[in-house]
Formats: sequence, C-alpha cells, structure tokens
Amino acid sequence: MKKLLVVGGLGFVGGVISTLARRNWQVHIFDTESRYDIEGASTRNVDITDRQAVLKAMEQIKIDAAINVAAVSNIDFAEKNQELTRNINVVGATNIAEGCRHSGAKYIYFSSDAVFDGSKNMYYEEDPTNPVNYYGRSKAEAEMAVTEANPDTVVIRISLVMGYPVTGGNAFFLPLEDNLRSGKEVTFPTDEIRTPVDVLTLAESVLELVENEYRGVLHIGATDSITRYELACMVASEMGYDSALVRPKSTVAPVPGRAPRHRNGIICVAKAQSLLRTQMLPVELGVRRAVRDKL
Ligand SMILES: NC(=O)c1ccc[n+]([C@@H]2O[C@H](COP(=O)([O-])OP(=O)(O)OC[C@H]3O[C@@H](n4cnc5c(N)ncnc54)[C@H](OP(=O)(O)O)[C@@H]3O)[C@@H](O)[C@H]2O)c1
Repeated sequence: MKKLLVVGGLGFVGGVISTLARRNWQVHIFDTESRYDIEGASTRNVDITDRQAVLKAMEQIKIDAAINVAAVSNIDFAEKNQELTRNINVVGATNIAEGCRHSGAKYIYFSSDAVFDGSKNMYYEEDPTNPVNYYGRSKAEAEMAVTEANPDTVVIRISLVMGYPVTGGNAFFLPLEDNLRSGKEVTFPTDEIRTPVDVLTLAESVLELVENEYRGVLHIGATDSITRYELACMVASEMGYDSALVRPKSTVAPVPGRAPRHRNGIICVAKAQSLLRTQMLPVELGVRRAVRDKL
C-alpha cells in the first residue's frame, strides 16, 4: 500500500480524512499529541514548526503524498497570537511542502475563503486575495509559500465545514448541539454568507485529488450559499431541535474581542464539479449528510 501522511490528522477534518483513507492507504499522522487513536493509522507527535523534526520524520516514512490540515483555525485566537499563527500556518505548512519535494510527493494544503475580503458576490480560484483578518493573511501567505516550495501542490479553499468529528477539533456542530440539547439560545450572524461543505464530501474530494493530475488552487463547497444564521437554523432542525433557539445577530459593527470577518464567503465550485467524481452538494443535502452520516 502507498503511504499517505495526514498532518493535523487528529483534528476535526484530519480525523475524518485519516479514517476514510485507511481503505486505500497506509496512513501516517503527525499531530501535536496522541490524544486519540485512529485504529490502523500510525501516529507521531511532530510539531510542524520544527523543520528538522519534520524533514527527518518524513524522510523515515518515505511518504507518497501528504495532506496538511494542521493550523491555528480559530480566527479570534489567530488575531491575538499572530507570531504563533504564522509559525504554524505558514512556516509549518512550508516545512511539509519541503519534505514533500524531497520525497517527490504530492501535497494537499488546506486554505480558506478567508483569503478574500468578502466584498464580491462570488469568488473564483484565480481572484486576487485580500484578507481582512490575520488568519486570512496567514493562509494567503502560505498558499504562495507552499506552492513555491513544492510545485506539485493542490491548495484547497474551503468556507465552513459541517459534521461531527471522529476525534476532536474545531467542529461547530458539537457546541451547537450541546446548547440546543440543554434548551439554551445560541446566536449566529445574519451578515456572514458562507459556502459550507459536509466533512464526508470534503474528505472524499481530497482523497480523490491526492490521486489525480490536478495541481493549483481548487474551491470545495456547496453549489449554493447561505448565511451562518440560516445554516444554524437548518442544522438545528435536521438535528431534531427547535430552530427558534437559534437567534440572529448582526456583526456589521465591530464586536469587541472578535476579529473582523469577510462578509461574502461565496466560492464558486464549478471547477471541482467538472474535475471530481465526488459530487458537490446543495447546502440542504450537505446539512442532511453532515447530521445523518456519521463515521
Ligand atoms: N473547520 C472549518 O470550518 C474550516 C473552514 C475553513 C478552513 N479550514 C481549514 O481546514 C483545516 C482543518 O481545519 P479543522 O477544523 O480540522 O482544524 P482543527 O480541528 O483545529 O485541526 C487542526 C489539527 O492540527 C493540529 N496542529 C496544530 N498545530 C500543530 C503543529 N504545530 N504541529 C502539528 N499539528 C498541529 C491541531 O492540534 P491542537 O488541537 O493540539 O492544536 C489539530 O489536531 C485548517 O487548515 C483550517 O484552517 C477549516
């Protein structure tokens, strides 16, 4: 079996990718600590900011391909911890790119629609980036750095991921469901539009991309878009809770302690639709899949 490295493979998206990948790959995971066990995958504590440790571990495994989902992914934390964020999101991501180049391995790097300022109605792969917060700036810088370090790279841009983790990480479903279960109201922005993708469709797309000929930037998401408020209402109903517990809030005026957000995270997924066998879904079907199809 060929060897796939999943960096950040114990986080939300990485856990699902690693679990699915075991069907066709020998899976190796780098993460900060072995808090979870994915049966059949080999996990190492490797801090991706440590260049020598990364290159040595990659050289030992002799990987065929790598997917990097390790990141500071909390936008407000990134704004307050810019040096740490840059070290992980840019320097760490570039260390993996370098290791891939030495091994002749294809590299899949995870970026975000936060590289855009959100003023346009629709964003295409080739649109210029102009982030409004530090998280987006780190992703925009990394997109260029990783591609320069290893041209055999796909940069995936996603907007918002829906679903349950098999390990841990940054899944908004868990705190949302905790609150709804105990009858607590939750607030979501009415003025942030996103192009969400369910985590299984995302993982299937990525595992297809690892093996095909595509190189460059690719948007993965729904075939339509939705405000974060409307999405949370839809998810609450699909989970079987009262969607009236989801309350609208406006974030047009700056919120103290909250980093600025891009308004329109509407990414066009036409290229992914023409390139991949995995189907991009409308939001409603993605929500259904995210709530019902657990690994
Ligand atoms: N989830 C979304 O809605 C969303 C939307 C747009 C883009 N993205 C991007 O998609 C990717 C995956 O997101 P996610 O939600 O799965 O994130 P996540 O749950 O936070 O997972 C990231 C994983 O990387 C690990 N990691 C962090 N720093 C590391 C380091 N220095 N060395 C090794 N591992 C490290 C984390 O460990 P610790 O927990 O110990 O830090 C965590 O296990 C990220 O690049 C994120 O920016 C996500």
